[in-house]
Amino acid sequence: SSSATPGLKNVLVTGGAGYIGSHVVYCLQKTRRYKVISIDNHHNSLPAALTRVAELSLEELKASCSPDEPTPSQLESTKVDAHTCDLTDPASVRAVFAKYGKGGIWGVVHIAAYKAVGESTEIPLTYYANNVSATLSLLQIMSEFDCSRIVYSSSATVYGTPPEVPIPESTRLKADSPYGRTKVMCETIIGDLCSAEPDKWQAISLRYFNPAGAHPSGRIGEDPRGRPGNLLPLLAHMAVGRIPDPLLKVFGNDYPTEDGTCVRDYLHVLDLAGGHLLALEALEEGSELNATAFADVKDGKFKAYNLGKGKGMSVYQIVEAMRKATGFGYKTEVVGRRRGDVPALIADPALAQKELGFSAAHDLETMCRDLWNWQKKNPKGYET
Ligand code: WQD
Repeated sequence: SSSATPGLKNVLVTGGAGYIGSHVVYCLQKTRRYKVISIDNHHNSLPAALTRVAELSLEELKASCSPDEPTPSQLESTKVDAHTCDLTDPASVRAVFAKYGKGGIWGVVHIAAYKAVGESTEIPLTYYANNVSATLSLLQIMSEFDCSRIVYSSSATVYGTPPEVPIPESTRLKADSPYGRTKVMCETIIGDLCSAEPDKWQAISLRYFNPAGAHPSGRIGEDPRGRPGNLLPLLAHMAVGRIPDPLLKVFGNDYPTEDGTCVRDYLHVLDLAGGHLLALEALEEGSELNATAFADVKDGKFKAYNLGKGKGMSVYQIVEAMRKATGFGYKTEVVGRRRGDVPALIADPALAQKELGFSAAHDLETMCRDLWNWQKKNPKGYET
């Protein structure tokens, strides 16, 4: 595969085969302005996801060019240079960068990380190694190869239990799990780098709320290994018959919320992926988004944005929405609270809306419909 295609910017996506990564790769390819390179260790993903993304992008490209043929550059933009390697192995990451040479990679979208809050309290060193050391190593290698633009995948968990909801970016960062602390640490490391080299580094950190749904084609979607920990993929697995004796344990209904269950800000994964495109655009010197994103920053070009709808949805509301989408009669049982859960996490999306033009337009019904469409077409996920 070519190391440089005229007109296309090489963008490295770490975790490109994952649920969010694959939808980000799809959106990058749709612009036909980027050539995507992916690094993934497949700890929680399968290479098939990237094959599906490339097929989908090629189909959509051909359909939109018909009856003309796509140009070589357009065809190139639908190919993924996929590398199976681990970010905790600097030599293998360096080899990927070396393939494209100094300055060969225009920017990095860094999504790869371990992300289970509960698990992080059991194996913190694994989380610090995989999320923090790996990010440090990635930044050092980027520096060696004159690559100094990064979009970093952060999380609403950096806010811990927020003083108020909706949560603005100015809220103090106070994570209360090792996972959340890895996200705060990486934001801090990246921020310090941008302050140290303001003429070189530019970074945007995206604080995800709760991504949900799948591409409406049903070709790509969330495919966690083993039993899903997150609510929506678990409900999808129940409806498609992957969970014997499906009984949804509701982790507490005694929270200070409308129906007593936890409230979260769910947004469609394609809206979340769209936010990454806007962030990359904002890292382009001279672009309008670059001017608005970094207009008011004094201490280095680092900016954090919430990606959410600004709308809270409770566990019971999610179960009801999935019952409607799947026709499955979910049985629920209220049990004790889950460690690390906070009553409500709702984004204040105003800053991303104002400075990046971000909008999470898809509604809950669409998220559930797209999730179910993916799951029923792929009962076993990407495993054939
Ligand atoms: C949603 C709600 C549960 C399962 C997690 C990570 C977070 C982020 C997104 C990375 C909660 C309730 C769940 C179940 C339940 N990941 N629930 N029964 O916890 O908001 O966020 O994913 O950034 O870091 O923590 O998402 O889907 O796990 O839970 O009652 O069997 O559903 O209590 O209130 P969460 P979730």
